[in-house]
Amino acid sequence: MLPTIARDNDTVVMIDQRKLPAQEIYVRCRTAAEVAKAIKTMVIRGAPAIGVAAALGIALGMRRSTVTGTQKFAAEFYKVCDLMAGTRPTAVNLFWAIDRMKRSFAAGVAAGESVDQLKDRLDREADQIHDEDVASCRAMGTFGAQVVPDEARILTHCNAGALATAGYGTALGVVRGAVEAGKKVAVFADETRPFLQGARLTAWELVRDGIDTTVITDNMSGALMRQGRVNFVVVGADRIAANGDTANKIGTYSVAVLAREHNVPFYVAAPLSTIDLNTPDGSGIPIEERNSREVTHVGGNQLAPEGASVWNPAFDVTPHHLIAGIITEKGIFRAPYTESLRQAFAESGV
Ligand code: MRU
Repeated sequence: MLPTIARDNDTVVMIDQRKLPAQEIYVRCRTAAEVAKAIKTMVIRGAPAIGVAAALGIALGMRRSTVTGTQKFAAEFYKVCDLMAGTRPTAVNLFWAIDRMKRSFAAGVAAGESVDQLKDRLDREADQIHDEDVASCRAMGTFGAQVVPDEARILTHCNAGALATAGYGTALGVVRGAVEAGKKVAVFADETRPFLQGARLTAWELVRDGIDTTVITDNMSGALMRQGRVNFVVVGADRIAANGDTANKIGTYSVAVLAREHNVPFYVAAPLSTIDLNTPDGSGIPIEERNSREVTHVGGNQLAPEGASVWNPAFDVTPHHLIAGIITEKGIFRAPYTESLRQAFAESGV
């Protein structure tokens, strides 16, 4: 399986996703600040992956702490959590993972654990978050495979694969699950301007797995659907509001509208850690705006003239009524999402 991120002695190692597919380079982070910088600068990206990175980064930072008393150690811990929380605003998995680390830390402090015991506890919690993410993706793959057509021509947007998670992927987990279930699968990967996660990362992963892959530019999916060449759409998510409205990579909304027009089922695949019941609907989801250079330049070459203004939102929100189902590790949830998602949490006890 693809090595997205791993703990290695007292470091965190991740594949540099800015460099793929041209170069397969690994970045070794030695401090929490280095992990935070890696998240901010997109060395690692994808909602579940940045949650895992934050957890491993917090554990790494505290493992390396030289502070002795519990009180000072706690002060440093909360500072490191704030550092991670300031990296990217949209993917709720980041905040979910930080909260989990905080809850574990608080339980350790309440139990009177020493600084060394707290360090061990944080390592264990981060490892668990990592391993649970892989297990969730595999479960999504199994559930999702059931709704993938036997002869599937799947469109996906951005990269919701092994690289965007601790391994296996959410949307690409569904693709992998369908292949493992013996279905005939071909995938169309939107290139996903401006960061090109589809052309660079999704295509790289799928080709590596020997799955039939065709890259298209983002403005081709309408024509492709009109020709009847897509019979299933699956994408990942960065944050799903309580009513099912889903923030995902910019361009996802356009794909969902096209899918509705052409009667193609549009599914979202995401773990429960991506669902934010505290945000009632999509209007409350903070959308990250990124550097204008991502739009004006491609591979270091300037496309747009100096002086032109740029709008560069990293995500958009797909309204729940365009979504056929939300594939999670606990099953596939359908409209009305306000009820079904709440029920999903109640049943899983998380
Ligand atoms: O800006 P990115 O690359 O972090 O955005 C990633 C996406 O939008 C993915 O589709 C989403 O996080 C799902 S990842 C399993």
